[in-house]
Amino acid sequence: MVRDEAAGLRAVIAIHDTTLGPAAGGTRMQPYQSLDAALTDALRLSKAMTAKAVMAGVERGGGKAVIVGDPARDKSRALLQAYGRAVERLGGRFHTGPDVGIDGRDVAVLSRVTRHVSHTAEGATLTVADLTAIGVLEAMRTVARHLGRELGGLRVSVQGLGQVGLRLARLLAKEGAQLTVADMDDGRAERASSELNAARVAPEAIYDVEADVFSPNALGGVLNDGTLPRLRVSAVCGAANEQLEASGHGDALQERGILYAPDYVVNAGGLLSLLFELGEVNEEGILARVRGIGARVAELLERAASEGAPPFRVADRIVEERLRERRAQRGVH
Ligand code: NAI
Repeated sequence: MVRDEAAGLRAVIAIHDTTLGPAAGGTRMQPYQSLDAALTDALRLSKAMTAKAVMAGVERGGGKAVIVGDPARDKSRALLQAYGRAVERLGGRFHTGPDVGIDGRDVAVLSRVTRHVSHTAEGATLTVADLTAIGVLEAMRTVARHLGRELGGLRVSVQGLGQVGLRLARLLAKEGAQLTVADMDDGRAERASSELNAARVAPEAIYDVEADVFSPNALGGVLNDGTLPRLRVSAVCGAANEQLEASGHGDALQERGILYAPDYVVNAGGLLSLLFELGEVNEEGILARVRGIGARVAELLERAASEGAPPFRVADRIVEERLRERRAQRGVH
């Protein structure tokens, strides 16, 4: 828990697991109702980062930080610097970057007080959103094959046309997919629909669209009691974090014969981009790693089919197994 009264800072830095290496995860700024709500969110998100790193083969642990406040109103240089000093005090146990409400410019401010931050360089050819979208595209290619289809002609309903959703929609359109798009921002939806020759529906109507794949790229918790009975798709595959409101909703999707490609496997391009930002791999290397998400999803779907279990349950189990193995190896040394 981080507090700096003078700077108006209240934040939580959550380090969930460091079995594979120092924790990595973005910093979010949101007007949480309470510090408790911020804590719950940070813990949940940091756990998901551990899972993401394991499944993407990134030698990092899971972490996430949240700053309590409205980014449009409460963000100041003093607040960011106070937060950056807190990250620095952890001495490298936590490495962070942008997330909802925190952008590259904020990270530049943080980087004056701590070494343990990074973001995609200004003018870089590949941004974190590009890599995330490429990973989702490859995951969707695998999902399509699983359905006996190719991306060309695949009907995809895309929720959210922000940094990742729009890039993904462009990549899908290039492959010849037939898109239906929705965004809370009318202008954004309108522009995407005319650029990509895509059908457009009101945000609330996206759950009722008959399609092959529903792709959530906006909010978490969109697979819930209210939306599940409305879905008329064969699969769900998108970038949004924490798509299942509760794990029972993943089982319910499976019972309805809807294939759910687990979010943290599909959207790992965002975490993989860290290796590129830190110069650990070059552009060619990072593209190969991100495209490998397709193969990862394929392995997962095969294992899930042979075990007769939902892929997200199998993924959770793989994460636990791998962490246990690593801890045991450490014990031996
Ligand atoms: P963004 O903020 O750029 O875009 C989100 C878009 O969704 C906006 O255009 C917004 O108007 C729209 N939206 C919000 N509520 C909506 C609703 N109810 N219906 C339809 N549209 C709605 O966010 P970004 O960066 O594209 O991220 C999208 C999701 O992907 C988030 O869940 C994020 O956590 C996840 N993600 C993002 C990564 C990245 O590299 N940016 C990496 C991994 C995951």
